[in-house]
Amino acid sequence: MKNTKQTILVTGGAGYIGSHTIIELLQNPSYNVISLDNFSNSSAQTYERIERITGQKVTYTNTDLCDASALQQFFESNPDISGIIHFAAFKSVPDSVADPLLYYRNNIVSLINLLDSAGTHHISKIIFSSSCSTYGNIKKLPVTEETPFQKAESPYAYTKVVGERILGDYISSCNDAKAISLRYFNPVGAHKSGLIGEDQINPPTNLVPLITQTAIGKRKSFTVFGSDYNTRDGSCIRDYVHVSDIANAHVLALQHLEKSQKSYDVFNLGTGNGVSVLEAIDAFKKVSGITPNHVIGGRREGDVEAIYSDCSKVKKILNWEARYNLEEMMGSAWKWQQWLDKEQK
Ligand code: WQD
Repeated sequence: MKNTKQTILVTGGAGYIGSHTIIELLQNPSYNVISLDNFSNSSAQTYERIERITGQKVTYTNTDLCDASALQQFFESNPDISGIIHFAAFKSVPDSVADPLLYYRNNIVSLINLLDSAGTHHISKIIFSSSCSTYGNIKKLPVTEETPFQKAESPYAYTKVVGERILGDYISSCNDAKAISLRYFNPVGAHKSGLIGEDQINPPTNLVPLITQTAIGKRKSFTVFGSDYNTRDGSCIRDYVHVSDIANAHVLALQHLEKSQKSYDVFNLGTGNGVSVLEAIDAFKKVSGITPNHVIGGRREGDVEAIYSDCSKVKKILNWEARYNLEEMMGSAWKWQQWLDKEQK
């Protein structure tokens, strides 16, 4: 019987959000998955974890999207790809401030090469991993997809602003492809099995892994960056959203592209709840019984004061909404950290 499954390329599939999305795709009978990663900030061990959870082996390749000829060869060897979910990018706000050219080269060149190949091979569906950091510092919250961007506060954020524009212009230039940019707010937590979660190679700079690594004793403490913001407790506000909710949105976005009349669209992925850094720490303490050692320090360059989402558009059009609450996010992150700690002993 003809294989009616669609083959979806997941770039950055060994990464945090990519791996959780592969799990959702493999558990959907409509999709085969092939993944591509250069393991610059992840390891092939992630694919073994995916197999342990789904019982399905992931076909993957160690390919750098910045290597245009290697990428073309990959597509020539995989002619069945009908959709791409593009996660592969560097994602640390502070690291991008420290090394902007690394971020601009990696995040932009990889996208241009990927779209070049997508055009050559007539890939009809593209989902782009974008970010709430594209909005910059917004006074009137929550943000909707129509909220005009303010200044991108970090090179990372700007790579997503430019990435969305490149994708939009590419889609306008071709008549056989459709695309969606998904603006993630702050993805946190881990798969409910506790067998996969955030496990980057480079030292994490984002809050929740630092909380859990401190709580388990992998690091002595962490710094709360700023207590003098104009927020209810002086620390920054973010919209934390469970990584499995984010992953689920990618399947809904792919399905939507099958029937959408719009060739390009953008959706916020958040909970709509603004949570401060100190409140996030309290939520962790509530579920773990542990207050991770932390010191209150100065502001971190590149941070926005507060941002959280209006998610009415994605609810209306993709029928997606976040299912997990903050305590479930923290509980899943803690369960994963404890499992990882045992596995690494
Ligand atoms: C969150 C808050 C920090 C570390 C992230 C991702 C980015 C994008 C948007 C998806 C800030 C504070 C952090 C620490 C702290 N996501 N913090 N001490 O910068 O909002 O960006 O979400 O695409 O990829 O990086 O996330 O977790 O770094 O910071 O006080 O040691 O936690 O100042 O207010 P950020 P983050």
